[in-house]
Amino acid sequence: MPKHADSFQRTWDLLVAVGAVVAAISIPVRLVLNYQAMVRMTRLDWALTIIFSADMLLRLHRSGWLGSRSSPGTSKPAPPYAWQWFVIDLCAAIPFAAFSAPSFLQLLRALKVARVAEGMWRWRGVEFQNPTVIRLALFFFWLALSAHWIACGWLALRGISPDLDRTTNYLRALYWCVTTLATVGYGDIVPSRNAEMLYAMLVMVLGVGVYGYVIGNVAALLANLDPARVRHRELVDRITAFMRYRQFPASLQGRILDYYEYLWENRLGYDESAAISELPPTLRTEVSLFLNGDILQKVPLFRGASGDFIKAIALEMRPIIFMPGDYVVRAGELGEEMYFISRGTVEVVSADDKVVYATLTTGDFFGEIALLLREPRTASVRAIDYCDLYSLSIAAVDRVLTRHPGVAAHIRAIARQRQEETEKRQERDEGGPF
Ligand code: CMP
Repeated sequence: MPKHADSFQRTWDLLVAVGAVVAAISIPVRLVLNYQAMVRMTRLDWALTIIFSADMLLRLHRSGWLGSRSSPGTSKPAPPYAWQWFVIDLCAAIPFAAFSAPSFLQLLRALKVARVAEGMWRWRGVEFQNPTVIRLALFFFWLALSAHWIACGWLALRGISPDLDRTTNYLRALYWCVTTLATVGYGDIVPSRNAEMLYAMLVMVLGVGVYGYVIGNVAALLANLDPARVRHRELVDRITAFMRYRQFPASLQGRILDYYEYLWENRLGYDESAAISELPPTLRTEVSLFLNGDILQKVPLFRGASGDFIKAIALEMRPIIFMPGDYVVRAGELGEEMYFISRGTVEVVSADDKVVYATLTTGDFFGEIALLLREPRTASVRAIDYCDLYSLSIAAVDRVLTRHPGVAAHIRAIARQRQEETEKRQERDEGGPF
């Protein structure tokens, strides 16, 4: 079925919904304020009549009541037309004013707003980007509409005050409704007759319900607006409680909290490798390529490499964070991993920290000498600021490089060159000035 037909259906439904909301707002207010003599058809009445009649005919046609049970232009079969809906659609389509019918009958047209509620009910299965915001918006929409109806009901009960203009009359009624619904009740507008008192009590009871709903749900809804942040905050709270219980030194507590802050700011607190570990291999490769895309772009070594090599590397790389002053590798240790710098700066220093051989930054790699030449680490590497690194294990390096001898030769050449350079510096420094 053509796609444009579905989009026509959606646009039409939206138009009907807008018409229904306009009817639900305008008809009661006009009725109580006698804004237009309700016996006369206005342009709005005509427009609503045309839209609602067309909607009813369309539904009759689609559901087969008019003979053919086809659903032209839609990809889904039309649902059967329940008679309750038919009655509502019919009432909404009748231009009562044109027949000089009693004006209160026009309220029946406002029932069409039930179609809006039905549409929203159907939406509940649809996955939204931010369902909490949608729920919150819908709740306030219905709350505002209900407040409007209650205000109109109040005006109908009390009658309009001839000393005040229509807007002030309506605003006073709305003001009474909001203060009563919110259970504030200033008491400056008080019910005087029995019917008014009964009505006010009803609204108060409703207000208590609304208040309970708001307190119970909206707070939770707001908290869930950002589930990642909520989870992160819970984690940090748990860790803070543990650190206090075990009386961690204040400086250590500070560093741990700084680390979580950095993690939150840069990775939204997600452990990437854990998050993708359960995906099937093809998806995992794709996600790894996407997640590690920036580092693969940044490292000059990878730029001209084949797609196969990039895929293999992307799958094996593990993100790891170091804090300022941390040692990533120590001179003399055995090497288990090599590292690529995604963000941050490290210093390559001598075993005693006194000589800085080089400063490496975004896109550089280190730790390859020990892996490729099977020798102890030639130098220590220390993070200067927060460093986002990607590590490759010795097994992964062996696996990937045996299949890509060209890249292996390139890395090996860099390793030799660095090793020679460092050895020269060491000899010079050991020879020293004396
Ligand atoms: P590895 O010996 O495994 O551990 C220390 C790392 O520091 C080493 O690998 C190199 O990657 C790096 N490195 C050592 N010397 C230099 C240098 N002169 N310039 C740049 N990097 C170096």
